[in-house]
Amino acid sequence: MTLLPVPDTAIIVVAAGSGTRLDAGAPKALVGIDAHSILRHALDGVFAAAPAQVIVVAPAGHEGDAEAELEAAAGERRDLGRVVTGGATRQQSVAAGLAALWGDVTTVLVHDAARALTPPAQIDAVAAAVTADTGVIPALPVVDTLKRVEADAVVGPVDRAELAAAQTPQGFPRGLLEEAYAAALGSGIEYTDDAALFAASGHPVRHVDGSELAFKITTPADLERARHLLTASGGATPAPSEARPRITGLPRVGLGTDVHAFGGEGHLWLAGLEWPGEPPLSGHSDGDAVAHAIVDALLGAAGLGDIGEHFGTAHPEYAGAHAEVFLARTRELLDAAGFVIGNVSAQFQGNRPRFSARRAEAEAVLSRALGGAPVSVTATTTDGLGFPGRGEGISVTAVALVVPDESRRV
Ligand code: CTP
Ligand code: MG
Repeated sequence: MTLLPVPDTAIIVVAAGSGTRLDAGAPKALVGIDAHSILRHALDGVFAAAPAQVIVVAPAGHEGDAEAELEAAAGERRDLGRVVTGGATRQQSVAAGLAALWGDVTTVLVHDAARALTPPAQIDAVAAAVTADTGVIPALPVVDTLKRVEADAVVGPVDRAELAAAQTPQGFPRGLLEEAYAAALGSGIEYTDDAALFAASGHPVRHVDGSELAFKITTPADLERARHLLTASGGATPAPSEARPRITGLPRVGLGTDVHAFGGEGHLWLAGLEWPGEPPLSGHSDGDAVAHAIVDALLGAAGLGDIGEHFGTAHPEYAGAHAEVFLARTRELLDAAGFVIGNVSAQFQGNRPRFSARRAEAEAVLSRALGGAPVSVTATTTDGLGFPGRGEGISVTAVALVVPDESRRV
């Protein structure tokens, strides 16, 4: 038997609502999107994120259904999950979840089951951004033109630059969230979301980028949208770019490597992240060897040449550019050639920086730059051997899988 370490993060998945607006004749979380329910899809996303205690808050009388969905989604992490019974309001359901937290948990994420297609990277990004005194929400910019109205009169404009649409999971330091919930229950006020309740106790809340896929299934039209997205992606959780083309043809793999020596002014950029206090890598751009190896892997997979050809010294516009610029341009090149990115995996060899604590953050940045394609990054030392072991530089290997979209090839 494998003993899993006790996680310090918990995810409360609130699924106890009745789904009045969906009006599907069953509690919303148990309504099917395809062969699987809203709750099952939500839990698939939760269990694809970093290990956490998972508390499913079920509608009263449907605890057994929730147990079955938990069982199916959790796999070998079944011991990390349990089901509790929800309350009459969302706030009461969250409170029921909070009462089931394990003692070791220090960070709590509250997630709507109704946001069934939320990418696991969004869950990880929120968890990584929570601090001892600050809550974190994922949010999207508002794209519609907004007006202030009174009855049928339009009384003024609203500056949408000041607004953001809040999503879940919302993450908080456990102790402060529990105190804020106790205060809210005492006051009798129902808050619109957990961030509002947390802020009402005087604590700061920050936001990270949300995803179009984390929309809440509220109405029958939302359910149709979720069905459409799953059909288009062949049942797998779709990638964030909703405009993804239909994929046909054999996949192709590509390999990329890069090596940079430590040296120069400033500090390190690696795997799309800035590392204050770490010595920089030298190079034509920011020296981000992880990003460069990924670019070569992608270009190689698509047969589009290499990084020197597209981004080398003949292209002074890329001097000093960071990973996001390289990767976004690479994705454009692949897109123009009729390729969809499947996934990317990279590993760097080096004594520093200590990577694991920022892995989720790095993967989220790189994945976003590639239009949502999954990117995983691992790190290893070399037992003191070779130039990475002597601390002279960093060596990276990346592999990429791309899929030709035959329907768009000329
Ligand atoms: N929720 C809950 N307990 C409640 C009410 C809501 O756990 N008493 C959960 C829902 O299951 C959902 C999330 O909170 O995952 C967001 O709520 P919402 O989308 O409003 O779901 P419902 O309340 O079920 O829908 P409606 O408002 O249309 O009845
Ligand atoms: Mg509701």
